[in-house]
Amino acid sequence: MKRKLVIVMVGLPARGKSTMARKLGRTLEMDGVKVRIFNNGELRRRLDIDADTSSSEFFSPANAKGVGIREKISRMTIEAAQSFFAEGGEVAIMDASNVTRERRRTIAAAFPDQPLCFVECLNADDEALEANLERKAGLKEFRHLTPEKAQESFLKRIAFYESIYEPLDAEANRILVDSFDSCILQEQITDVLPYYDRIRDIITTRVVRNLFLVRHGETHFNREDRIGGDSDLTDKGRDQANALAEHFATVRIPIIFTSNYKRTLQTATPIAERQDPCSIIALPEFNEIHAGVCEGMTYEEIRRKMPHVARARGPNKYRYVYPDGEGYRTMEDRVHRGLKKVFFLNNYDENIMIVGHRAVNRMILSSFLSRQEEEIPYIYMPQDRYYHIQIDPHKRIFELIPYRSVLTTW
Ligand code: F6P
Repeated sequence: MKRKLVIVMVGLPARGKSTMARKLGRTLEMDGVKVRIFNNGELRRRLDIDADTSSSEFFSPANAKGVGIREKISRMTIEAAQSFFAEGGEVAIMDASNVTRERRRTIAAAFPDQPLCFVECLNADDEALEANLERKAGLKEFRHLTPEKAQESFLKRIAFYESIYEPLDAEANRILVDSFDSCILQEQITDVLPYYDRIRDIITTRVVRNLFLVRHGETHFNREDRIGGDSDLTDKGRDQANALAEHFATVRIPIIFTSNYKRTLQTATPIAERQDPCSIIALPEFNEIHAGVCEGMTYEEIRRKMPHVARARGPNKYRYVYPDGEGYRTMEDRVHRGLKKVFFLNNYDENIMIVGHRAVNRMILSSFLSRQEEEIPYIYMPQDRYYHIQIDPHKRIFELIPYRSVLTTW
């Protein structure tokens, strides 16, 4: 069987195509396949073009100059992929929107000897899409615009693509992927495609290269043993955040995910300041367990003033739900949803950092570990160490690392 394949990404902007392309590319590369990604957008940003290629007008189908430049860029990436095959390359991933049949026919015609597999990325989750737009609006290409203007411009760009979008239907080998849920929605494969089983596997498997799961630094509430609330870091907590920043200064962290609470944001800020560039994305899904009527109380006060709560929670901590609040069990869905957002927004970067809370971090960790549910609310979640998590088909590593130690390179 021929070992060459062209994977053609398809989809509107911000639907997770590049993340999926990177996931496919990096994993196939680790399998020993000679693979390369040809990304039209990256080439456009690299070339010295006599036009404002970040403005929405550049993407208007009525803008002949813009259309011409984009066609030229597409020809350039196709030629680069042809040379890659001529030099022994095995899998070329064409990463662009490729939303018109004409564009897809042009790509197919350029590779008469290699089978093609079209991978369309959809994302029907509005919140994730919105968060992705916010992330994109923060990219270098939009630095000259305010975040609002950048988002407006990006939305217009999407609308232009929508106006010319033609669904995959005539193409022989096509697969429709929900890039938020990492699942296959439809597939129609007529040829025998090399690597196809592996591709399906990669699309649906979550690989974690380096997830740094950090608990926020000490807060005033922690010092008093009070639960919940939205208190600030203490001096010790700020010192812990600075030590974390120092510790991670040599590791590239492009995005730090936090909750909406001050303690996680105050911990993430110094870490982000030592990185270049690094954005902080606050996800409500990572807010700490809400203790309902017990918010702001100490465990001792709960035992004294609400003995029924202490009695009921003790033996059944995972399933127990605080009156007017939450329990570990009821947090499951939202925390898992937060994790999906993380993997969707992280652009398949090797390093991911989450700064969360004691209960939330236990839930995050447990989603990778097979632990009995009774054990989850007791997982050790200290403030002077973080978990370094690595998961791929060959290994599952969960390491608890003191951050005042010297960092070895990953
Ligand atoms: O004490 C800090 C805290 O994050 C509280 O806000 C939260 O209620 C608690 O830890 C969760 O831990 P546990 O489930 O062991 O009470």
